[in-house]
Order: sequence, then C-alpha cells, then structure tokens
Amino acid sequence: MCGIVGYVGARNATQVIIHGLRRLEYRGYDSAGVAVMSGSETEVVRCRGKLAALENLLKEKSPTGSLGIGHTRWATHGRPSDENAHPHRIGAISVVHNGIIENHAVLRERLRATGRTFSSQTDTEVIAHLIDEAVAAGATSLADAVRKALRQVEGSYAIAVVSNRHPDEIVAAKNASPLVVGLGDGENFLASDAPAILEYTREMIFLEEGDVVSLGRKSVTFTDMDGNRIERKPRTITWTASQAEKGGYPHFMLKEIHEQPQAVSDTLRSRLLLDTSDVTLDGQNLGAIDGRVIILACGTSYHAGLVGKFLVENIARIPCEVDLASEFRYREPIVSGKDLVVAISQSGETLDTLAALKEAIARGGRTLAICNVVDSAIARTSGSVLYTHAGPEIGVASTKCFTAQLAALTLLAVHLGRRNGALADKAAAELVGELVHIPHKMSETLRATGSLRELARKYMHARDFLFLGRGTNYPIALEGALKLKEISYIHAEGYAAGEMKHGPIALIDDGLPVVVIATQGKGYDKVLSNLAEVRAREGHVIAVATKGDQTIASHCQDVLWVEDAPSLLQPLLTVLPLQLLAYSMAVARGTDVDQPRNLAKSVTVE
Ligand code: BG6
Repeated sequence: MCGIVGYVGARNATQVIIHGLRRLEYRGYDSAGVAVMSGSETEVVRCRGKLAALENLLKEKSPTGSLGIGHTRWATHGRPSDENAHPHRIGAISVVHNGIIENHAVLRERLRATGRTFSSQTDTEVIAHLIDEAVAAGATSLADAVRKALRQVEGSYAIAVVSNRHPDEIVAAKNASPLVVGLGDGENFLASDAPAILEYTREMIFLEEGDVVSLGRKSVTFTDMDGNRIERKPRTITWTASQAEKGGYPHFMLKEIHEQPQAVSDTLRSRLLLDTSDVTLDGQNLGAIDGRVIILACGTSYHAGLVGKFLVENIARIPCEVDLASEFRYREPIVSGKDLVVAISQSGETLDTLAALKEAIARGGRTLAICNVVDSAIARTSGSVLYTHAGPEIGVASTKCFTAQLAALTLLAVHLGRRNGALADKAAAELVGELVHIPHKMSETLRATGSLRELARKYMHARDFLFLGRGTNYPIALEGALKLKEISYIHAEGYAAGEMKHGPIALIDDGLPVVVIATQGKGYDKVLSNLAEVRAREGHVIAVATKGDQTIASHCQDVLWVEDAPSLLQPLLTVLPLQLLAYSMAVARGTDVDQPRNLAKSVTVE
C-alpha cells in the first residue's frame, strides 16, 4: 500500500518528506515522488523505482521550499512508471493518494467530455482534475475544492493536496485508508503511519472516516465532508523513534522477532490480576457470551485466531468458530446478539477484516477488536478493543504482533472463563501463573535457537517444505509454512499431523524437509508415529521439541528446542524457531526479508 508524508513549517520540506518516506518503505512501493512549494511555485519530482532513484533525481534539482507532500506508490491502477508515479499535478493542484477510486472510469469519461486530458492510467489523476475543476468553478478555499471533489468519489482514499494558489496550506482527507497528523510548534506533519514522523513529534491525531484537514504552519483545522468544523483530540504516542528504526539488527523482521518477549509482556502488563487469578480487559466487561465466539481475520492473524479457538473452547468452554474475513463477508453468515465477534488485525486497517466486522455488526453481533495500531479503523469500528502492545511492526511478515495476538487471545479466554465459571480458581491460578513466565521462556527459547544459519544453508535449495503439527500446534505448522513462503519464496505447506497419511505423505522423499512440531503434551506419542512414517520414506525431519526431551533426537536429523509449557501456551514458544528458520532461509537465499515481493503490511484495498 502507498505511503504518504506531508510537511509545512520552516525546515527544508524535501528532507523531512524523504526522511519520512524512508520510514514507510515497508508499506511496499514501486515508485516515489514529492511536490514542494518554493514561493508560489510547486516543484514536482517523481519517478519509478525505489526511493534511492528519487533521491538521485533530487540531487540534480532539490526544491528548497518548506511546504510539501511526498508519496511511495504500490501500483493498483496503472503499472509502475514515471507518469503513473505520484504526485499528480493538474494546473495549480498536486495530489498524492493511497487507496482505490472505484468510480474513476465514469469520472474520467465525464472529465474528458469537458475537454480535460489525462497523462496517466491512475485513478488518482481523476482526483486532481476534480479539485482543479472545483477551484475553477469558484470553490471558496482549497479545502472546499477538495470536499467538492471527494463528494463525487467512491472508494478508499487517503489524499494530500497542495496548490500554487494556496502556498501556505496542505489539505488532506481520509476514507478507509490510514492517515495521521503530527502536531509541532510552528510546523505540522502528515503521514500514512506514525513512525514516519515520530522523530519530529509525539502529538498525533488519527483521521476519522470522512475527515478533511487543513494544515498551516500555526493551524490545523478539521472539517467533515460538508465543511462543518469538527474537533479531533491529539494522542501522545509513546513509541520512541528508534523503535521504528532497526535497533542494530540487519532487518526489521529479526529485530521484531527478538522484541517478542517484550511485546508479550507489554500486552499482558496490567491485565493479569494475580491475586484473584483473573484478567482485566482494560476495565471492559464483555459480559456473558450465551452464543458463540466468532473470530475473523486474514493471513497471520487468521492463524492466531485458530489458536484462539483452542483457548476459548478449552478455557472458557464457549463454542468458537474461526473464519477467513474475505470469505465471511460474502457468506451470508449467521450471527446473533448472543455471539461475540472478534476481529483480529495487526494493522487494524485490513479491508477484508474491516468489512467482515461491519457485516457482523449489521447482523447484530457484539464485537471486540484485537489490534496493534491505536485508533485504527477496525479498532474504531468495533464495540470494544483489546490492543496488543507490540509497538510498530515494520517487517511485512508479521511476527511480534502474532505472539502478542496469542497473548491477547489467552487474556480473552481467561476473562470469559472466569466470568462464566468454566475456569475454576485452581486452574486459573495455574494458567495465570504460567502466563507470567512466558516472556522469559520466549527469551530463553530465542537464545537457545540462535541464528539457524547452518540449518538454512543445509536446506536453502529445497523446492518444497512440509510443516506438521497437532492440536494447538497445528495452526503453528500453518504459520511456519506461511512465513517460509512469505519471505524465502519456497513453496511450503502446513498440515495437521494426523492428516498427513491422508494425502501429503505421497510427497515425502529424501528431497523434502519436514518440520514436525513434536513438543511434549497432548498427542506427543501420535506425533512420534507421524515422525516414523516420514523417516520410513527418507524424509528429512526437523523437529521442534521440548527442552530436555531425551528421545526425540533419535527420531530426526535436526532438533529446534523450546522451553516447556502447557499445551495451550506452547504456540507462544513453538512459533519462534519457525520464524527464525524462515528468516535464516530468506537471508541465505538473498530475498528482501523486510519487503518481500508481492506483499504488503496490510491490504486496505479490495
Ligand atoms: C497481509 C500481511 O497483507 O495482511 C500479513 O502480509 C498479515 O503479514 C495480513 O498477516 C493481515 O494483516 P492484519 O494487519 O489484518 O493483521
């Protein structure tokens, strides 16, 4: 998805914008550009390719103004090219945009019929024409022109606009795509994501659906789409700038893998009530759930949801269904007011999950969002929210937000189980007691696993991988396979170990590495027999096993040790060596770990 940065103040706008865009590179992009106001002239510099290409261009002609907007593009309409790069300039108007304008073709035809011409295939150029048209038609201000233009637009957008005729103002607006304003002293900032401007300010305002904001050096004015003034409260973002930086690790992903013990303990912090062996959800009381718990999510968050099913059913004895959000929203689902619908999303902006949540609300479901981004769209749309406290996640392949989601789901299950009586005092004390130790066990497991460089070199040329797990570790087998696919581009499949003999066993030979999660607990003996079936067919077994397990080593070629924990909490540990394996394989194969091809951090378009 595209990245947007804006600045108005006294500094060199080009430098501030490029700095911010560098922080948004993880959002995925294929071209970049800036529009900077020098005097009453806008200089637009843009090109296809990485930010470095744009920086080279800017070396030749770097605009010196102190007001401007910038963009990194992720192509949706129109292939990656210089003419499709943003900003798009029409007359005095320059626009950058993140999202998709669904009715752009109709609008383009209407504009063409008035004699206007187009130089790109993008939907964004339509917005620039509409604003220019509104100015020509006598709009009272730039914000008024933007509102008039956007009232004709259908779809998702975050836009930022500058105009030669309004050299001291940036106007921005949002619908479904994320946008945040950063407040400064004599200067103000705009970005698609907080890390881009964190270095300059902590006072941030997250735009709401339909918000239009006008930024000046000394003023920030919010209106709705009809021009009515609206109030928006700033939030103090506690993330440090360095949190957004790599902290000395070669990749954001590795930094974030090692941030998991902290992310989980921050997510558990002030929610575990040790004295009563209970959990508080930040004072929110979800009340009794007489129906089902229905979990909705995409990608890695969906795998967290699958573990959530075990947690909710085992701990709270409430029937729990897990649905792919992109399926749920079109499936005429059966939801009632007795059901609690839980939407899990790291970014809080994934459109399929947002739409599925709205579908559940429309059908009367009570809702809870588990999100990592404060004030994100899914969090704002949901009846209640349980935030994970993992900090900004920049690596596209989700890691620390996954384990933070597992921690949040465990908190939810304990909260529900204590309220409906399914979780008795003794069991609750044991579980809450175990949870307290999980962050430390995660650190120990990460330390014991190390870099896995040798193991990666051994298997880096494998064409396929198979991941097997049982019970709570079945979703972890799915997640291990997804991680390997996402960042090392090796085909991998996760499978319930008990299902192996009903199909994938046909794939096994001495060229297929098989990762088996064989930790002690429920189903351990069954997993050992699955291991034997693989070995019998010359398959190479990499086992994830419980530290101190004397027998496992004789059943496999390689062992990845994890600390011991009850089955329900094991996923918080067993996923760690699988994340590190995928990471090391990707490094060995030289892929773009933090920005894998064809992937983006969250999908906010159809
Ligand atoms: C995809 C990301 O775009 O969205 C995955 O590549 C992620 O890593 C999925 O799991 C869901 O994102 P979110 O933000 O809704 O959890």
